[in-house]
Amino acid sequence: MSANQNKVALVTGASRGIGASIAERLAKDGFTVVINYAGNAALAEELAQKIEKVGGKALTAQADVADAEAVRRMFDAAEAAFGGVDVLVNNAGIMLLSRLADVDDATFDRQINVNLKGTFNTLREAAKRLRDGGRVINFSSSVVGLKPETYSVYAATKAAVETMSAIMSKEMRGRQITVNSIAPGPTGTDLFLNGKSDELIDRLAKANPLERLGTPEDIAGVVAFLAGPDGAWVNGQVLRANGGMV
Ligand SMILES: NC(=O)c1ccc[n+]([C@@H]2O[C@H](COP(=O)([O-])OP(=O)(O)OC[C@H]3O[C@@H](n4cnc5c(N)ncnc54)[C@H](OP(=O)(O)O)[C@@H]3O)[C@@H](O)[C@H]2O)c1
Repeated sequence: MSANQNKVALVTGASRGIGASIAERLAKDGFTVVINYAGNAALAEELAQKIEKVGGKALTAQADVADAEAVRRMFDAAEAAFGGVDVLVNNAGIMLLSRLADVDDATFDRQINVNLKGTFNTLREAAKRLRDGGRVINFSSSVVGLKPETYSVYAATKAAVETMSAIMSKEMRGRQITVNSIAPGPTGTDLFLNGKSDELIDRLAKANPLERLGTPEDIAGVVAFLAGPDGAWVNGQVLRANGGMV
């Protein structure tokens, strides 16, 4: 029997992109998965059915992570369905790029609300409610290291996530809960591809020595490592998964 059997993983932003691959991979590894989404109920349901068809267990849970009350209700629903939560993957995120001088207040607030406050909202619940021995995996980005133009606000939200994550790892002392961040490089999803020319995508794909974009499955594999038994000794770290770009 897999070491992950009877463990419950809540993955935010799991209706598509990296989050959907994470939910699928964790289900394959034996976890019961809670598939959170903001608006795409149909995609989330489709994924849950796909997982259940091959013998996995999944529940969908709508919640805007920026809404603290909705996040509380999501944890309530996961606990009611499965008895508790063992793994939180804070994957939900948005990216709105422009030069700092051109960022309007709404664009600034939206990224802070989803990427930073959204991560805080789920971390606060997890800190109180995760079962002992659990895992928290937060999502940063390799742009925290690369610092490219137009990424100021987005990268700042992710730098804040890295800091919160490391501090929480210390606050979990005595509970055998690890807290880490993953910082992907360019990965082929809507978030990265939308609004970019083929030429720019090609250039960014070649920015790492492996000369390709990351896939959602590449990143899901790193999450699976941190969530599973082999990741037990990694705590309070940022794991950059970017093919060697930075
Ligand atoms: N792709 C990259 O190159 C890259 C690189 C570095 C880091 N990252 C990080 O990796 C994570 C996943 O990115 P991705 O590329 O997979 O993005 P994506 O393809 O745009 O998917 C985003 C997911 O997040 C959900 N979401 C968005 N806002 C939400 C909210 N307020 N509450 C709950 N769920 C919300 C979406 O749900 P709906 O479908 O319901 O809208 C969707 O499932 C993000 O944190 C991102 O910053 C991505």
